[in-house]
Amino acid sequence: MTEKLIIHGGKALRGEVEISGAKNSVLKLMAATLLTGDSIELRNVPHLSDVGVMTQVLKYLGCDVDQQDDDRLYIQAKNITSCEAPYDLVRKMRASFDVLGSLLGRFGEARVALPGGCSIGKRSVDLHVKGLIALGAEVEINHGYVEAKASRLIGAEILLDTPSVGATENIMLAATMAEGATILSNAAQEPEIVDLANFLNAMGADISGAGTNELVINGVKPGSLHGTTYSVMPDRIEAATYLMAGVGTMGDVTVNNVLPVHLSSLTHKLIEMGAEIEMPSPNSIRIHSERRLQAQNIVTQPYPGFPTDLQAPFMTLLSTADGVSIVKETIYENRFKQVGELKRMGADISVERDVAVITGVPHLSGAEVNAHDLRAGAAMVIAGVMAEGSTQVFDLHHLDRGYEDVVSKMRSLGADIERVPDTSGRPVTEESA
Ligand code: UD1
Repeated sequence: MTEKLIIHGGKALRGEVEISGAKNSVLKLMAATLLTGDSIELRNVPHLSDVGVMTQVLKYLGCDVDQQDDDRLYIQAKNITSCEAPYDLVRKMRASFDVLGSLLGRFGEARVALPGGCSIGKRSVDLHVKGLIALGAEVEINHGYVEAKASRLIGAEILLDTPSVGATENIMLAATMAEGATILSNAAQEPEIVDLANFLNAMGADISGAGTNELVINGVKPGSLHGTTYSVMPDRIEAATYLMAGVGTMGDVTVNNVLPVHLSSLTHKLIEMGAEIEMPSPNSIRIHSERRLQAQNIVTQPYPGFPTDLQAPFMTLLSTADGVSIVKETIYENRFKQVGELKRMGADISVERDVAVITGVPHLSGAEVNAHDLRAGAAMVIAGVMAEGSTQVFDLHHLDRGYEDVVSKMRSLGADIERVPDTSGRPVTEESA
C-alpha cells in the first residue's frame, strides 16, 4: 500500500538535525566499487530507496553487497558474472548508468540500458558516450542499450560541451585504469565529483583537479585498484531542505554534519532575503529569522552556482516572501512541477517557458498535494510545515529516494507530521532522476 504524509503546519521549527550521507555521492561510489575485486567499506551511507536500487544493480552484476542497520555498506565485486545492466533496473534510477564507465574500465566491456527520458527533462547521455569513444572505446547503441568495448582504454584530452555531472563521473571511472593521462576540461565541479575523486584515489587511482573545471586522470595499471574504507560526504541538498524549512516557519534550526562551503550559493541568497545565519561549528549551520523574508531572484547553474536540485524547495520559500521573485531554470526543461501544487496551496506563480514569477502571499494554506518528483516532494514538505492548516502529501516514493527518515527528522524539530497508509487508490507516478 502507498503512503501519504499528513502535516499540520504553521509551527516554528526549532532544534538540531543530523544530516545523512549524500545520495548523489554514494550512488557513484557504489558504481566505482566495480573497479576492484577487493572488499570496500562505505560509511555514512543513508538508507534510501535509490541505494536499494543501486544495490540491486550491483547484485545483478555479481557483487556481494551488505548494508548494515547503521551507516555501513560493504561491497565486493570479486565474482562479476555479467557486464550488463538491464533496462528494468536502469530505468528506475538514472544514476545506475554510471556502472558503464566502471565496467568498461575494469573488464573492457559493458552493456548498459539507456536510461531514457525522465519526468524533469530529456537528459541525454551523448556526452558520456562521446567521452568513452575519445578514450578509444568502440561504442554502439543497439536495441536501447549502450554497448561499449575496448581491449585497453587510452588516455585522451576531452572537452565537455557542458559540465555534466554524470558524464564527468563516467569518464573518470573509465579513465582510472586507462593507458596514460586523460585531461577532462569543462568538467563538472560539484562536491560529489570531489568525493568520487577522493574515493578513487583512496582505492589507488591518480586523479587531480577535482573541484576545478579541469581534471587530470593519470591511468594506473590495470588491476592495481584496491579495497578501502571511506566515509560518504554529507548531503548538501538534504541540509538545505531543513534550513529552508526552518527559516520558512520563522524558526531556529541547526543542521549538523554538513560542509558549509557546499551550501554557499543558498546561504548567500538566504542572508540577502533577511535570514540570520551562523556557523556554530565548522560542520554546522544555524538559521533563524523573526521576520518575513524578502523576495529574491535565482538562476540555476552548475556548481558553484545555485543548484537546480534546490530550485523547487526554494520556490516554496519565495511563495511567501515579501515582493516579486524571479526563478530561471537553466539545467532542465521540465522542472516546475511543484508550481501547480504550490498554487493549490495559495501561491501566486506564473510560468513562461523556463522562468517563473512568484508574487509573495502572506501565507500558504494546507491542501492535498503531489510530490511529483524527488525535489518537488521536498518543496511540498516545506510548504506543508509553513502552511496554515493541514496538508497531505502523496506519491512519497519520490521523497524516499533521497530523504532518510524525513518524518522523524522533521518531528525532532517540532513539526506535526505523520506518515499513514494512503487508501485513496491514486495511481503512482514514475520518475528516474
Ligand atoms: C546529477 C544529479 C542531479 C542534478 C544534476 C545537475 C545525481 C544522481 N543526480 O544528475 O540530482 O540535478 O546532476 O546538478 O547525481 N546532458 C546532456 N548530455 C549528457 C549529459 C547531460 O545534454 O550526456 C544535460 C542534461 O540533459 C541536463 C544537464 O546536461 O540538462 C545536466 O545533466 P547532468 O549534469 O549530467 O546531471 P546528472 O548527472 O544526470
